[in-house]
Amino acid sequence: MTTVMRPMRMEDIPTVLEMDRLSFPTPWSARTYEFEIRNRDTSHLVVLEQRENAVSRLSPRALLRRWSGNNTSGPLIGYGGCWLIAGEAHISTIAVHPDYRGRGLGELLLVGMLQRALHLKGEYSVLEVRVSNVTAQALYRKHEYEVVGRRKGYYRDNSEDALLMEVRPLDAAYAERLNHRLHALRQRVQYIDQFTAK
Ligand SMILES: CC(C)(COP(=O)(O)OP(=O)(O)OC[C@H]1O[C@@H](n2cnc3c(N)ncnc32)[C@H](O)[C@@H]1OP(=O)(O)O)[C@@H](O)C(=O)NCCC(=O)NCCS
Repeated sequence: MTTVMRPMRMEDIPTVLEMDRLSFPTPWSARTYEFEIRNRDTSHLVVLEQRENAVSRLSPRALLRRWSGNNTSGPLIGYGGCWLIAGEAHISTIAVHPDYRGRGLGELLLVGMLQRALHLKGEYSVLEVRVSNVTAQALYRKHEYEVVGRRKGYYRDNSEDALLMEVRPLDAAYAERLNHRLHALRQRVQYIDQFTAK
């Protein structure tokens, strides 16, 4: 199997909503996704799609061309979003289908979004995470995010606090360390990022 990272499309929304409901107590609405998909200048939404890998001798770009030529699609197993405004890369959402967690896919999503942010001259990255969500916090720490603040009662469903986490700067040295971690991730996950495919 190969995992493909590509931009989210309108037709993905029903499946994304299902994964959202399985992942968050207060999922986004279809309207929010529609708005974010249209707002491509600042909002970068991606999905992870699973693909059979029968023709792996082809280059990543040739594989992507073949799949899009077939006009077929595979199951979606994760998604993520990043707002890029005035040098700030704000991770807006990230989730992996519960059946596929613990295989490096959440990390893949985060790395993919950070690579896009670096490419688009993002200078730093921020996000909010529930105080109780130690799994996500471990993922962010692995990629050098640090706690820089706390938002009291941030989450509407249970008034839980959010930790504000940040990684700064997103510079050439960070890009190099990110590439290093990506190299390790490639040993675990076979994937193609449409954004960087050659
Ligand atoms: C957070 C989430 C996206 C992680 O995705 P995942 O595919 O399971 O994570 P990965 O397999 O890529 O793991 C990456 C890192 O996350 C951390 N991590 C993953 N699972 C963990 C666990 N059960 N306990 C502690 N840390 C964990 C580790 O640092 C791991 O790095 P390692 O493999 O080198 O140990 C996933 O758990 C999820 O969808 N959760 C529900 C939605 C959510 O909470 N999103 C974050 C909102 S802020």
